[in-house]
Amino acid sequence: MSFTGLKSAVLCLSLLALPALAADRATTSYQVADRQPSLLQRLAAALKPKPVHVAAVVHRRSAHGSAAHRVRTSAHGARVRHAAAAPHKRKAPPAMVAAQPVAAQPVAAAQPVTTAEPVTVGAAVTAQAALSEAELAAKGLALFNDASLSGGSKASCATCHFSTGHTNNKTYVGLDVVADGDPNGRNTPTLWGVAERAVFGWAGQAATLEDSIRGIIVNRMKGPEPSPETLAALVAYVRTLNYPANWQVKEDGTPRPDASAAIKRGYELYVGDGGCGTCHQLPSFDKKSKDDIGTGGKFKVPTLHAVASTAPYFHDGRTASLREAVKLMWEFYAKKMESRLPTEAELDDLTAYVGAL
Ligand code: HEC
Ligand code: HEC
Repeated sequence: MSFTGLKSAVLCLSLLALPALAADRATTSYQVADRQPSLLQRLAAALKPKPVHVAAVVHRRSAHGSAAHRVRTSAHGARVRHAAAAPHKRKAPPAMVAAQPVAAQPVAAAQPVTTAEPVTVGAAVTAQAALSEAELAAKGLALFNDASLSGGSKASCATCHFSTGHTNNKTYVGLDVVADGDPNGRNTPTLWGVAERAVFGWAGQAATLEDSIRGIIVNRMKGPEPSPETLAALVAYVRTLNYPANWQVKEDGTPRPDASAAIKRGYELYVGDGGCGTCHQLPSFDKKSKDDIGTGGKFKVPTLHAVASTAPYFHDGRTASLREAVKLMWEFYAKKMESRLPTEAELDDLTAYVGAL
């Protein structure tokens, strides 16, 4: 489909989406719609490899009352307005990356140039290095959508890390979807912000992105051993996937002045009585180590960024709603510390804050 065609399709979809979604906003107090991938992004991703997943994702997220809201707000372009009103250092995930020729993607601008040796000669050398980093990431994007990495060409990375490296919200054993909560299942994490993480996989089994991706190709996807070039390109690409800009919570984790009162109260509980900040530490909202929180072993403390749209929760996808996950975590903490349990209103507030990250 041409780009103009894509734009018309987006316009149509936006118009269609509006009335059906109008009722949603009132009932959804804490969703972070403006930070979700734009409709254009979702459509671009949808047009790419597996249209079947669109229905699946929308269906699942609608069950949590969030997808519709997200689409509606994006259709209004609210995210753009917020970004302009509250400039933020993070960039949105590379929106057009799946839709455009790879060469057009300004990957290098988002990524500090790293070279093996100190750069001694200045701009010319830096520009050269930047170009090759961009080229590498562009190659990585193509590979990310390439099912031939898997045995029998059954799946590409984008099958599971759907919507520009995010997640299709499914739980897997190997390439098979299993019921959420299956003890052997692993729910698909978002790759947004993956460059900021220090351990990979729910159990923290991989120490580097290279190891993590190699293991996934060979073990999960049953693909051929990847070449070092393939791994380098995939690493370069996933490192470009940043979190969307956040207009409600600052980089340091504190609410912005115009954030809702619930989010502000939720923040106080997060760093206070809820004890969340002791493990999901500010400002990354994760910890570079593992803990046993009674979910069946030691798992890494995952980041809570973008968690509103990564249901189901925990390594095995045992809880479907974010509020349930937050409740389970507070109950664990209260038992461990012999501290108090939250009220229902406090759970709402804490969920509002966590859902805004
Ligand atoms: C069948 C679905 C599926 C496919 C295909 C898939 N992944 Fe994943 N990915 C997962 C799941 C599930 C996990 C969590 C694995 C675990 O904890 O053991 C994961 C974890 C990861 C992680 C670690 C993230 C973190 O924060 O811990 C990276 C990086 C990653 N995948 C990249 C890729 C790349 C690159 C590809 C393509 C080569 C790919 N994945 C293909 C489902 C998939
Ligand atoms: C002792 C450390 C610890 C404390 C305290 C803690 N967490 Fe967690 N949290 C974890 C670990 C470890 C996991 C992953 C467990 C798993 O996957 O089975 C997790 C998972 C989560 C998840 C699911 C994330 C996802 O992507 O699926 C949410 C949400 C969460 N925690 C929120 C909270 C909140 C809110 C608090 C405070 C009430 C809190 N946590 C307190 C260690 C902690």
